[in-house]
Parts: sequence; structure tokens; C-alpha cells
Amino acid sequence: MTNQRRTDGSLRHLITLESLSRSEITQLLDQAQHFVRPLGAPAPTNRALRGVTIGNLFTEPSTRTRVSFELAGRRLGAEVINLEVQLSSRAKGESMLDTIHTLEALHFDVFVIRDSEPGVVATVAANVAPHVSVLSAGEAHLSHPTQGLLDALTVRQCKGERFDNLCIAIVGDLRHSRVARSAYEVFTALGVGELRLIAPHGLMPEAAEFPLGRRLSSPEEGLRDADVIMMLRLQKERMAAADIPDGADYFARFGLDLPRLRLAKPDAIVMHPQPMNRGIEIDTAVADGPQSVIRQQVRNGVAVRMAVLDAVARPRAAGPAGPR
Ligand code: CP
Repeated sequence: MTNQRRTDGSLRHLITLESLSRSEITQLLDQAQHFVRPLGAPAPTNRALRGVTIGNLFTEPSTRTRVSFELAGRRLGAEVINLEVQLSSRAKGESMLDTIHTLEALHFDVFVIRDSEPGVVATVAANVAPHVSVLSAGEAHLSHPTQGLLDALTVRQCKGERFDNLCIAIVGDLRHSRVARSAYEVFTALGVGELRLIAPHGLMPEAAEFPLGRRLSSPEEGLRDADVIMMLRLQKERMAAADIPDGADYFARFGLDLPRLRLAKPDAIVMHPQPMNRGIEIDTAVADGPQSVIRQQVRNGVAVRMAVLDAVARPRAAGPAGPR
């Protein structure tokens, strides 16, 4: 596993939540909460990252993660460049590392990377200059650490600081989901009481990947008395065509509609990382209903990414006075 830390133990990269302690996660969530504002209030801004240059390199599509990393960097006073990968020299065959070293020569300090290939983010982190940080914005099916943190922040806002009395049900395509893997890491680190994994046989991951999860194939059983329901997108881009379930059949067997939602606790919250396939994973009446916190998750995304950028990049920001 890539070392994510500096020699003093502080966080330099964020590629996975795996090695983060409960207190480090709590510290990041506390800092993110400090950046949360109600809708309609002015967004929080400061100059903590003045003089820092951040590059967003996304080789897979994204709306929420890319926009919120960009907003997070700008709201902390950093310069943020979105590299249009299809218009960059990568489209002419330049390797990721040659692109990164070119941007390093242009004084980039932080790279935010989403890539469909396992290991790319870690390879970049192992090859950048010592002052540079690398953040995963989603790595293959393996990891989406800032999504895990924003999901934990959302649960904490709705259910309080204690996770040991919570039952969290994650439903759907766990096999191909980096969101589920990071959710597993963060919820288990925070001491969740019970974690249920609900999926059809073909979309259930290996037990060794989620050792503390209870595996269930029936949503009727798995949703009963849950406090939190996290629905997952069918990751069709990671499935062979023949394995993609029929949408109507999948919804009938695993989709979250109002009757299934009523099996959970009356104050259960409904989450989805988005993008969501309405009518396949989740009914519109649930997605837009009073128990849905899906938009709250999106809002928390900026706050969490501000907290993470602040943690990794503040040590080399210019500070309030000095030129760089
Ligand atoms: N949840 C999430 O990662 O959304 P995007 O793919 O739009 O970034």
C-alpha cells in the first residue's frame, strides 16, 4: 500500500481511507463541518491555500466530484486548473507520468485524479516531487475516499456522533462500487453497529473484501429497521454487456420504492452517491421524498474536499503575507 504520510506522520496524499484512524477521520469530519453553510448563506471562503496550484485530471466522467474539488480549491484561495484530458497531449499518447511531470514543472502542488485503472493514482503519488500531494477522486472500483468522508459526514449530521448504535444498509451493485468500498472503510473505522450488504448474487463482492459486513440477498430482510439506506448505482461501465441486469427486473427485485422504505425505521435516511438511475435503483418518490439526504450529500462534498485540501496542502501555502 502506498505511504500516504509525510515523515512527521501528517497526511500528504489521500488515496484510500484504509490506513486512517478513527481520530484522523473525526478530525477531517470536524473540519469539514466547519465549512458547511446552510443553502442560501454565503459560501465559506478564506485564503488558507493562497499560492497553491491544484490540477484536476479526470479520465472518467464526473459532475459532483470534479466541480466540488474545483469549488473547494477556489474557496480556499488556491488556483485550480481542470485539465481537459481529451484536449491534452494525453490524447496524443503522452503517459500520465509525463503529463504529471510537465505540470510539476509548471509549479502544480496538488493533483486530483480520477482514473478507471487500478493503481494509477498510487503510481503518480510514488513518482511526484516531495512537496506535491495526490488525491484520489475515484480509482477504478477500489476507492473513492472523499465520497466516503462526505457520506460519513452526512450520516453524522443526521444521526449524531455515535455510529455504534446505527444499522447501515448498502444496497445494489457492491461488486463494482468504489463508493461502497470507501463507505465500508469509513463506517467500520467509526465503529458502525451493523453493516448490511444487500445485493443479487452476481453483484455481491467477495466476503474477504467486506469482512465485517452481513451479506443478504433480500432487500425485505436487509432493510428491516435500518437507520441508513445507501443505494448504489448499477456500474454498467464495469460490466460485460451480458451481465447488465434488465432495469425493470432489477427495480422489481432490488429498487428502493416506498413500500420497501417503510421496512426501515421511520426516521431512516436515504442516500445515493449519484448519478442515479431513477426507476432502476430508486423510485423518484423516494429520491425526492422527505427521507432523502441525497442533495445534502452533494453539499457536504465541497466541505469535505475543502477539509482534505486544507489538511494536505496548507503546510506549503504562501500564508497571508509572504510572496511565493
Ligand atoms: N458521486 C460521484 O462520484 O459523482 P460524480 O461521478 O458525478 O463525480
